[in-house]
Amino acid sequence: MTTPSHAYAGRSVLVTGGAGAIGSNLTRALLEGGARVVVIDDLSASSAANVPTEGDLRFVRGDILDPDALSDAFGESPEVVFHLAASFANQKSVEHPEEDLRINGVGILRVLEAAVAAGRPRVVYAGSGCSVYGNDAPMPLTEGTVSTKLDTPYQVTKLLGELYLNYYGEHYGLPVVKTRLFNSYGPWDPPGRYRNVIPNFMWRALHGIPLPLTGDGTETRDFTFVGDIVDGLLRAGTSDRAVGMEMNLAAGREIAIGDLARKINEAAGSRAGVEHRPRRAWDRKKRLLASIDRARDVLGYEPACAFDDGLAATARWFRTHWSRLATDPKFLPPGVDPTALRPRT
Ligand SMILES: NC(=O)c1ccc[n+]([C@@H]2O[C@H](COP(=O)([O-])OP(=O)(O)OC[C@H]3O[C@@H](n4cnc5c(N)ncnc54)[C@H](O)[C@@H]3O)[C@@H](O)[C@H]2O)c1
Repeated sequence: MTTPSHAYAGRSVLVTGGAGAIGSNLTRALLEGGARVVVIDDLSASSAANVPTEGDLRFVRGDILDPDALSDAFGESPEVVFHLAASFANQKSVEHPEEDLRINGVGILRVLEAAVAAGRPRVVYAGSGCSVYGNDAPMPLTEGTVSTKLDTPYQVTKLLGELYLNYYGEHYGLPVVKTRLFNSYGPWDPPGRYRNVIPNFMWRALHGIPLPLTGDGTETRDFTFVGDIVDGLLRAGTSDRAVGMEMNLAAGREIAIGDLARKINEAAGSRAGVEHRPRRAWDRKKRLLASIDRARDVLGYEPACAFDDGLAATARWFRTHWSRLATDPKFLPPGVDPTALRPRT
């Protein structure tokens, strides 16, 4: 399968959150396809090093809540807006619920208002399949089974984003596409206090310290390589049939957290194994497995990356960037005492 970035050649595209884990990969793909890209990102959860330096890119370092920065970002009259800027994710929202609502709620409202004012470009929203289905929906998760009983403020505001898209789509004729991403992983996804399990496991394994299991290890997630997520987002930005729809973007395959820990320890050459930690109160999901039938049908989406290959690519990225990742305190995973570490090379 070829990534459809060539469909964007010469087109003007805005990526909010384009310095983030997924956004920076998306931006790179768009630039490779010859798009003219504007990124708006306040770097609150990322760094300038993530922003590509090659290609037709203008970087607006700013907050989507700042009207001047947002109007600057819309200055090139984008044909497509990928809205990825967000306060990420569950644990952060539990600790900072108002910030979560401000960025994920008021933030998307402002982006949608700006899109209407800028002539109604296509808006592709990075929603969250791990958020909107609650805990009781049958597996695999299909798009119609949304729940209103959610576990964290982040899950609430990711669903809120979809509701705002519905409103702006119906009321203003804004062409919106609601993607629901599942557990992205891969290069440019850093470790850190509020970051995802794969980079945090990789960081610990490369330091030779045990990987924390907050369940019994049989819990599953639908880990999806970021290249496949980007492919789906690009398709969502061009498919006419997708307008107004919501659709899962996932690998459509379950990986148990215990198996994940073993694979990461092997990839990093760590013999430290795992350690058991108390379950986080909000973390009630035993399984996550997405149906990707709709994305297959509507977008021609087909995830291409085998899990082990994606993990190997992630490990390579970690090793290439290890001097930065190993030493900067902002990349410390939760529960790590930096004074007790002996970094490995
Ligand atoms: N990573 C996943 O597994 C996953 C799963 C489901 C949905 N999503 C969604 O995909 C999107 C991207 O996720 P990610 O993993 O790349 O997250 P990320 O935190 O790496 O990227 C978000 C980016 O938004 C920026 N940002 C935050 N607040 C901002 C603001 N007020 N103004 C401008 N920029 C701001 C951050 O600096 C960061 O670069 C998010 O909307 C997230 O909710 C991600």
